[in-house]
Amino acid sequence: MKAIHVGLCGVGTVGGGTAAVLKRNAEEIARRAGRPIVIKIAASRDLERARTVCGPDIEVVADVMTVADHPDVDIVVELIGGTTIAKDLVLRAIENGKHVVTANKKLIAEYGNEIFARAQEKGVMVSFEAAVAGGIPVIKALREGLTANRIEWIAGIINGTSNFILTEMRDKGMSFAAALADAQRLGYAEADPTFDIEGHDAAHKLTIMSAIAFGIPVQFEKAYLEGISKLDALDIKYASELGYRIKLLGVTRRRENGIELRVAPTLIPHKRLIANVDGVMNAVLVKGDAVGATLYYGPGAGAEPTASAVIADLVDVTRLATADPENRVPHLAFQPSAIANLPI
Ligand code: HSE
Repeated sequence: MKAIHVGLCGVGTVGGGTAAVLKRNAEEIARRAGRPIVIKIAASRDLERARTVCGPDIEVVADVMTVADHPDVDIVVELIGGTTIAKDLVLRAIENGKHVVTANKKLIAEYGNEIFARAQEKGVMVSFEAAVAGGIPVIKALREGLTANRIEWIAGIINGTSNFILTEMRDKGMSFAAALADAQRLGYAEADPTFDIEGHDAAHKLTIMSAIAFGIPVQFEKAYLEGISKLDALDIKYASELGYRIKLLGVTRRRENGIELRVAPTLIPHKRLIANVDGVMNAVLVKGDAVGATLYYGPGAGAEPTASAVIADLVDVTRLATADPENRVPHLAFQPSAIANLPI
């Protein structure tokens, strides 16, 4: 069957992982998607790296808009991050009738409503599994596996950097500053680590999950944020002595007057499963009225874990794009539901 063509924008850590996994598992991926998924063109600031990563058969360009405008590209994969060029790129791709897969949590959490509305008008899909909890398929769990449920609450450790820092402070008695330096050296932190340690990154991810779980628009600006930068090793030591772990927890739940969105350091009894999620790992607990509490655990960042989520979306979009458009389930375009007006 004819291949579906991907335009890869950004050939950094996740872009490189995506190209590698698409190549390595090409046969299985094609079988599952119903047709081969092939990178047609890649855009990168580092043309040499892009050529090395993508191989000689793929056109490499410096300008992402060339990808958005390319007549043979069916799906634009946005992995450049940020919200300036990335937003323009995504909107341009949508205007051009292309489907979009993105790992960009900030973009979806802050501009998702505009992007989804435009995608819906143009009849294209925008998919963002990789934006939340890296390799853990939690968006698909919320959207598909738990779709019969009325979701009551979600609680997650969804920033690996903060979790790594808190784990180092507990296990090695390190200061906050030393543990942060380690996280940066190991490449876990965002370019601006404030996003990790002050709760912004977790709030972006929580906002996206909340929107899907409760059928509300993305409302990042309403989230309450409190980071971990004021914690010191003594707080963690005393918590341990009292039988608790401190985790940066993102919580969203139904309240009588609306949906709560909250990211803050939280004491969790040490016997709870989620209290034992350490290092850069992520975990998301979801409580549904039918299923009860379910827990999703795994790597929240990294080249191939995040690529795993990007490619899951590529397979999903390929299947849906290949299906009869009349019968296509519009589950990738965001669907605000009846409770969309609830305040938070
Ligand atoms: N900086 C993020 C984290 C990377 O630490 O979880 C993945 O979003």
